[in-house]
Amino acid sequence: MADRETVLKTFEERFGAAPELLARAPGRVNLIGEHTDYNDGFVLPAAINRAIFIAARPRPDRAINLYSSDFEEQATFNYDNLRNDNLPGWTRYIRGALWWLSEQGHTVPGFDAVVGGNIPIASGLSSSAAIEVVTLEMALTLAGVPMEQRDKALAGVEVEHQFIGMPCGVMDQMASAMGVAGHALLIDCRSLETKPIPVPQGISMVIMNTKKARGLVDSEYAQRREQCEQAARILGVKALRDANLELLEGTKDKLDDVLYRRARHIITENRRVQVVSTILSTSGSSMSAQHGLRTTGQAMRDSHASLRDDYEVSCTELDVMADLANAQPGCFGARMTGAGFGGCAVALVEHDKVDDFVSAVAPAYEQKTGLTPELYVCEAAAGSGVEQL
Ligand code: GLA
Repeated sequence: MADRETVLKTFEERFGAAPELLARAPGRVNLIGEHTDYNDGFVLPAAINRAIFIAARPRPDRAINLYSSDFEEQATFNYDNLRNDNLPGWTRYIRGALWWLSEQGHTVPGFDAVVGGNIPIASGLSSSAAIEVVTLEMALTLAGVPMEQRDKALAGVEVEHQFIGMPCGVMDQMASAMGVAGHALLIDCRSLETKPIPVPQGISMVIMNTKKARGLVDSEYAQRREQCEQAARILGVKALRDANLELLEGTKDKLDDVLYRRARHIITENRRVQVVSTILSTSGSSMSAQHGLRTTGQAMRDSHASLRDDYEVSCTELDVMADLANAQPGCFGARMTGAGFGGCAVALVEHDKVDDFVSAVAPAYEQKTGLTPELYVCEAAAGSGVEQL
């Protein structure tokens, strides 16, 4: 996996000159608020210190020469064949972002570029959102078009909806474009207002990659979204964000068991995000910080149980990982993160206990599942941007 230096060096090797710019867009880990974004609800993700980078230099013509340092492959195309699916799969999100810009009437010049990064792919850490956002960062700079970070995020969502065909919410792209170092980002997915919430001092975010491939995620995701919309219609609200438990209980006989449980997850999860955000933004002294962390940890465990039992998007590997993590000393709470069906879990662990945590969880997980996990101790990073070189 490539970092900033590798991408810069590879550009010089491939194209025989230095790039003019380096764009960067981070992945994200969601601390709490899962599957709530497409219900107009609340989420609390953090951008992480793993990112996708693109080093680029404009060309006088409209050709696009792209080299992937992760796939070690070159692709050459132009603005007239962005929809050509015979091109390598790793170009898809890049082509999608360029397509969206041309649909909006922006003229981006041709360019030589190297793309690479260190976000594990298809693991629930939003490498796709990061590729969309990093491409937008690069292309907007080449085109000389200024754009708000929020609008870049929304453009990434449009790429997913219109080019990729994934009916995602706004969380991943918002976190990647608008992250704040040292903070998670409370996002109101209806108003799109954001509020940075400090990650408590002395706490590490540990991401635990189960290495279970996320097989069913696309079809199941779309189905969950439809179920939520159906439940909202029956409850008579615009979106499940507007429902509460009293309304749900009062309408129980009109909902089948599945729709009832889907709605219950969204309603309780939105509440958990609000509780955690409030407590983490107000717990100042060390006494109340401990209390805040314990409350947050409990909310994370409750979130996992709700995703497993009511929303049914967990899997054995994620359950095993979360249980092992939750049993370790110094772990305040752990849960699956992202869409589910495999991918990653996240834990908040006391800084001093992180080494012991990693050495206990990794072998125990491998012993129980036969899969070798990867654990990453992450920091909350700033959102995407461009360096002019
Ligand atoms: C994926 C989607 C997000 C969000 C999460 C689940 O990451 O892209 O919009 O719905 O799943 O919380």
